[in-house]
Amino acid sequence: MMKNDPPGSYLETISVIGAGTIGSAISISLAKAGYRVISTRRRPDLNAGLKSYGIEVTSDNAGAVSSSDMVILTLKPADLVSEIRKLSNSLRGKIVVSMAAAVPMRIIHEILPDSFIVRSMTNIAAEVNAGYTPFCVLKEDEEKISFVRRVLGVFGETEQVDEKYMDALTALSGSGPAYILTIIEAMMYGGLKVGLPRSIALKASYQTVMGSAKLLAMSGDHPSAIKEKVITPGGVTIDGIYELENGKIRTSIMRAIESSTIKARKISKDLFPEESREKQ
Ligand SMILES: NC(=O)c1ccc[n+]([C@@H]2O[C@H](COP(=O)([O-])OP(=O)(O)OC[C@H]3O[C@@H](n4cnc5c(N)ncnc54)[C@H](OP(=O)(O)O)[C@@H]3O)[C@@H](O)[C@H]2O)c1
Repeated sequence: MMKNDPPGSYLETISVIGAGTIGSAISISLAKAGYRVISTRRRPDLNAGLKSYGIEVTSDNAGAVSSSDMVILTLKPADLVSEIRKLSNSLRGKIVVSMAAAVPMRIIHEILPDSFIVRSMTNIAAEVNAGYTPFCVLKEDEEKISFVRRVLGVFGETEQVDEKYMDALTALSGSGPAYILTIIEAMMYGGLKVGLPRSIALKASYQTVMGSAKLLAMSGDHPSAIKEKVITPGGVTIDGIYELENGKIRTSIMRAIESSTIKARKISKDLFPEESREKQ
């Protein structure tokens, strides 16, 4: 579907409640895939641009939920529970996908015992169908899970995981684009330092990241196996690798993911202290 084509190749309506950064990104992706999409926020005028994709933009959360087959909640963790309480009547019996970091499914289930609860975590690359979107469910239901897979599949790769991995995945793949973009920016600066024009340095950097990831995904090889093919004995690459190891790039990235995971767990613990006590 092109940007201005009418939506509706699919029969289902999906509402995205709290369409800020990530909610807008996934709304665009869903509308382009042919779903009828209703996106809400308290200040819908800020999302007027979404209308050009055929997305209905409103501040009426209850109205959006009532006419939807699936509701995706992209609210901040601190706003999620109070909003679900307010919408509990309209959300009854619906497929409810929470994209909020750090909110356990059980908390949502307690408010919405008759709804099909899904917890998921996408990333910003969902806007171009290249995200990674793990999800977990409280109850196995083949038909509903298949619908969830189809919708989340619009955002790129999706897979069902155990909820115990969600905080770590929030840190790794939810926050991940910020880490990778830092690396791409650093590569571009390296190019500028040795005199490349800005546009060439930028394209060479992101294309190299994209190509390496594609090769890895398509070959199924371990990253080291591909890396070894690039490192010629006594050649150019090993000098660069030596500097990266000297700068502790691997421990820096490992620590970044560990710190973000700890933060996700802390947010969860601060918001839901009783849930955390029960887990121990
Ligand atoms: N950003 C990412 O890359 C990313 C990736 C995966 C998951 N997430 C998760 O997605 C959630 C949102 O993150 P974000 O970065 O997109 O934050 P954000 O840009 O602040 O979006 C949240 C939106 O919720 C709206 N909102 C607040 N209260 C509302 C209400 N009562 N009814 C309707 N809309 C309401 C706000 O708009 P108004 O003020 O106009 O209402 C705001 O635009 C978080 O839980 C985060 O963990 C984010």
